[in-house]
Amino acid sequence: MMKLENITKSYGETILFHNFSYTFEDNCIYAITGPSGCGKTTLLRILAGLDSDYAGQLTYSKDLKLSMVFQEDRLLNHLNVLDNVTLFSKDQKKSMAILEHLGLKEVLFSPLSKLSGGMRRRVAIARAMAIDYDVLLMDEPFSSIDENLKRTIMDMVKQETAAKQVIFVTHNPAEATYLNATLLPL
Ligand SMILES: Nc1ncnc2c1ncn2[C@@H]1O[C@H](COP(=O)(O)OP(=O)(O)O)[C@@H](O)[C@H]1O
Ligand SMILES: [Mg+2]
Repeated sequence: MMKLENITKSYGETILFHNFSYTFEDNCIYAITGPSGCGKTTLLRILAGLDSDYAGQLTYSKDLKLSMVFQEDRLLNHLNVLDNVTLFSKDQKKSMAILEHLGLKEVLFSPLSKLSGGMRRRVAIARAMAIDYDVLLMDEPFSSIDENLKRTIMDMVKQETAAKQVIFVTHNPAEATYLNATLLPL
């Protein structure tokens, strides 16, 4: 369980959240939605502990392990696909299995420079899922993935995260519906 209580967050004069409270239950999937600039990334960064410049309380159990897919891919271009994942997960077998499951079997040893935007996105998702985690935070994870592939990738994420908590940001209500997510509109 992750609990936000009376969160107030501003940048200068701009107040993004004022006394915002919400409880994320274990083993559930949540979709944070809302227009561009409304604070979705900021909220995810607060949940991830990457932003602590706010008033209010974030509570979760001490040993909760978080993993994150950032809005930008943040991959290392001089490494191949597999090395981008095993740099963080020492479990090579699991890393390969997840990459293969995400349709990247043919490019495991390809340099990142050879990949399309959608493939890079899938590497970023694989990297986050290959480590040991309880909560997966994802910022617009499916944004640059081809429409015809998106369902396959969402199915895979659903399978892979079945016993975990997932909190993801999306502009696309169809993604939230497809994943059966609880909506958190900002
Ligand atoms: N580091 C920052 N300094 C000042 N303003 C910021 C900073 N980060 C985000 N903002 C502003 O806060 C608002 C929310 O940003 P963000 O959380 O990225 O929104 P979203 O992800 O919903 O598009 C935007 O208006 C953005 O310009
Ligand atoms: Mg954002």
